[in-house]
Amino acid sequence: MNFPLIAPSVLSANFAQLGKDIQMINESEADWFHIDVMDGVFVPNISFGFPVIKSIQNLAQKPLDVHLMIVQPERYIKDFKSVGAEILSVHYEACTHLHRTIYAIKEEGMKAGVAINPHTPVHLLKDIINDLDLVCMMSVNPGFGGQKFIEQTYRKCADLKAMIEATNSSCLIEIDGGVNAETGPKLLEAGADVLVAGNYVFASSDPVATISSLKKLNPYTK
Ligand code: DX5
Ligand code: ZN
Repeated sequence: MNFPLIAPSVLSANFAQLGKDIQMINESEADWFHIDVMDGVFVPNISFGFPVIKSIQNLAQKPLDVHLMIVQPERYIKDFKSVGAEILSVHYEACTHLHRTIYAIKEEGMKAGVAINPHTPVHLLKDIINDLDLVCMMSVNPGFGGQKFIEQTYRKCADLKAMIEATNSSCLIEIDGGVNAETGPKLLEAGADVLVAGNYVFASSDPVATISSLKKLNPYTK
């Protein structure tokens, strides 16, 4: 894999011309499609569900990285597999039996991720880190695109990187929220592997070039 991986967030696409935006991502240097599913309960917003994701899968030529911001995500694991999820992340804060849920995701043949809210400390992942393919670290409070980046994420990302190295885990660190040309290099310096970007890509005048600029980012050095 050629790092950093870039995952444009479809939440910021223009839904009236979704096919065009999917095609744009296909033609860009992006690595994954980041798909945000919100239920109006776990987060104060509702995004989209299975028919929309299935339509995205029909056009997408890159893996679907699905981020579930829903309660009881274990109820829908097979459904997300059937609409094309290749990477499925559930929230730490939404899972009572996280280990069971992670293994249910893997049994369906998907990569398993855990997303953590800004207030959730990294050390809570210590006993699950070796079972994970991905940690989606929220750098904003989940629910909306275009929010302000929370600065403590750099330190959290470095802590998680240290845990991954100490445990010889192959887990990737994905950062979700407020990623741009300023935060991106510092996140890479702190150990991030995957950058999700919504507003920064879709509000730009040339989204393909913006994705390309993220792909070319190097770790920030002081
Ligand atoms: C927020 C979502 C993010 C969001 C990121 O709840 O999980 O994936 O789309 O959007 P930006 O990059 O605009 O902060
Ligand atoms: Zn997300």
